[in-house]
Amino acid sequence: MAQAMAPVAASDLVTLKRPFQSDGFGEENGGGGGIADEKPRARRRESDPAAALAAARHEFGEHGGVNMSIEASATFTVMEPDTMRRLFAGELGPDRGDMYIYSRHFNPTVLALGRQMAALEGTEAAYCTASGMSAISSVLMQLVGAGGHVVASRCLYGGTHALLSRFLPRTSGVTATFVDVDDEAAVRAAVRPGQTRVVYVETVSNPTLAVADIPMLARVAHEAGAKLVVDNTFTPVIVSPARLGADVVVHSVSKFISGGADIIAGAICGPASLVNSMMDLMEGALMLLGPTMNAKVAFELSERLPHLPLRMQEHSRRALAFATRMQGLGLRVVYPGLPDHPHHARLGAMGNQGYGFGGMLCVDMGTEDRANRLMHHLQNTTQFGLMAVSLGYYETLMSCSGNSTSSEMPPEDRARAGISPGLVRMSVGYNGTLEQRWAQFERALALMQPPTPQAHHLKVAAADRDAAAADNHRKH
Ligand SMILES: Cc1ncc(COP(=O)(O)O)c(C=O)c1O
Repeated sequence: MAQAMAPVAASDLVTLKRPFQSDGFGEENGGGGGIADEKPRARRRESDPAAALAAARHEFGEHGGVNMSIEASATFTVMEPDTMRRLFAGELGPDRGDMYIYSRHFNPTVLALGRQMAALEGTEAAYCTASGMSAISSVLMQLVGAGGHVVASRCLYGGTHALLSRFLPRTSGVTATFVDVDDEAAVRAAVRPGQTRVVYVETVSNPTLAVADIPMLARVAHEAGAKLVVDNTFTPVIVSPARLGADVVVHSVSKFISGGADIIAGAICGPASLVNSMMDLMEGALMLLGPTMNAKVAFELSERLPHLPLRMQEHSRRALAFATRMQGLGLRVVYPGLPDHPHHARLGAMGNQGYGFGGMLCVDMGTEDRANRLMHHLQNTTQFGLMAVSLGYYETLMSCSGNSTSSEMPPEDRARAGISPGLVRMSVGYNGTLEQRWAQFERALALMQPPTPQAHHLKVAAADRDAAAADNHRKH
């Protein structure tokens, strides 16, 4: 019978092995002399995510390429039959002799991306998965188990809400209590000592943009012997939940981290012991459910992580500018960067300096009809952005959350979570110029106003012009 792999040493999941000795990128495992000995310790102290990413070991290609090679193999050969036995016995592995068995277990390229993710989030280890949902479901199944209980925020991404309210109760007997996580007394009252295994929140909630008080929630969870799991999809780089007390950080890598709207991926960042338990041959959710990331996808993503901090800065700068101007026009705007957002100071205090308040904002248009008309003009008349779910793309993406990404929630739960029918969620992009985009927004908004007889003529003419331009734009 196959044995569980021996734990992968934490240091091997955090620091990266490199092929060159003299480039100053550091060396782990004690090799390489005095300077190398200093580097890993210095790296672990980096608290700025961009600095931590840059300090993680740079993986070079097989032939000295500046980019790492892609290890495309599903399976790995050994020179001697006994080596296979030792691999399965856990005597050899990624950290012991740089040896691999099979890519659903560990793959060198996927593991290298995991090291970058661990550096980004300041965790001991990270493992990358095929989607955000597979990361979330695997972690919850691993940590909670049959009959266990979860205290969850009542405002979560619709898929996560459905997982906790429907799927896990049906398949695993897991139960969840949804609470206002801003209300410490309510969280404490919901926790069941001995049964609650996880407190689950999003750093910035989808779509209402409430900011979780991570240090408080970590305290409450830990006092009850539970783990705090935080979905940091909306705020990579901006907030580092593990540095604030979270035990596990999960991501939909499909969003800001990818940045391209062309990849579905996820990540689990946390202690090496968690990753190792999830890769256990007999008991591990990742090993046995198998939501493996393809090595070619891992390579693509590893090329995008280095410019994630720059992208987040520009997403934040544009979102703050738009939110401020929209509010100035009298619109009901929700953006944590606005001083009147109830959690503005909290995000300011929890956030890493210099990355702003994120790229997500919401405009509440009151009714679904007005929300739809605004989005129609923003996409089809003025080309401000695209009607699409998801986020983190260079173009602005917008959707009416109540009838899309939160439609899994029953109407009464949506109302309790503060998701009004006219709420338009925007992931603010950074292509084009800020002024060009703002002019497009203003033009679309003007088309929403009830026309006065004189203005009507002008607006129809302008709309016709814009529609013709849009048509032309689509053809090219
Ligand atoms: C906050 C949040 N978490 C998780 C997910 C699920 O991620 P994925 O689509 O990569 O499975 C989403 C998807 O929209 C999300 O918005």
